Amino acid sequence: MADNFTKGMARNIYYGGGLFFFLFFVGLTFDTMLELPKRDNRDQITDTVVHGKKLWEDNNCIGCHSLMGEGAYFAPELANVYDRYGAGNEQAFKQFMQSWMAMQPLPAEGRRKMPQFNLSTEEVDALSDFLIWTSRINDNDWPPNKQG
Ligand code: HEC
Repeated sequence: MADNFTKGMARNIYYGGGLFFFLFFVGLTFDTMLELPKRDNRDQITDTVVHGKKLWEDNNCIGCHSLMGEGAYFAPELANVYDRYGAGNEQAFKQFMQSWMAMQPLPAEGRRKMPQFNLSTEEVDALSDFLIWTSRINDNDWPPNKQG
C-alpha cells in the first residue's frame, strides 16, 4: 500500500476532501438559513420587542445572565423566565417584571445582587415583551428544566 501511495493521490485526497467539506458546510449553512425563519417567530417581532432587545443590550443584562445558554453564568437563565413566572399569562409576567425590576437590589445578605437599573414602566414592559418573544423561539427546549 505504502509503495503505490503517490504524491498525486495525496494531493487528490487533500483537494477532494477540502472541496467535499467546503460544500458540506455550505449545505449546512444553507439548511440553517432555511430552518431559522421557521423557529424564531419573526412575524411576532413587534416594535416593543425590538425596543426591549435594545434595552437588553444597552444595559448589558447578558453580562450576568444567559439567554438560550449564551452569556454569563452569574445570574439565572432568562430565555425561560416567562415560563417560570408567567406560566403562559403575559399580564402576570409583566406584573412580575415590574415589581422585580423595582425591588432590586434585594436586601438579602450573602445573595448575589442584581443592580437597580431605574427603568421606566414602558421600558420594563418592552423588556418583558422581548423576554416573552425569546421564550417562544424553538430552541429544542433549551434549557432542559424550568429553573435552568
Ligand atoms: C450585575 C449582574 C446583573 C445584571 C447586569 C442583571 N442582572 Fe438580573 N439578576 C441578577 C442576579 C444575581 C439575579 C438573581 C437574584 C436573586 O435571586 O436574588 C437576577 C435575577 C433576574 C431576574 C429573575 C430571574 C429568576 O429566575 O429569578 C430577572 C427577570 C432579571 N434578573 C432580569 C434582568 C434584566 C432584564 C437585566 C438587564 C436590564 C438584568 N437582569 C441585568 C444579576 C444581574
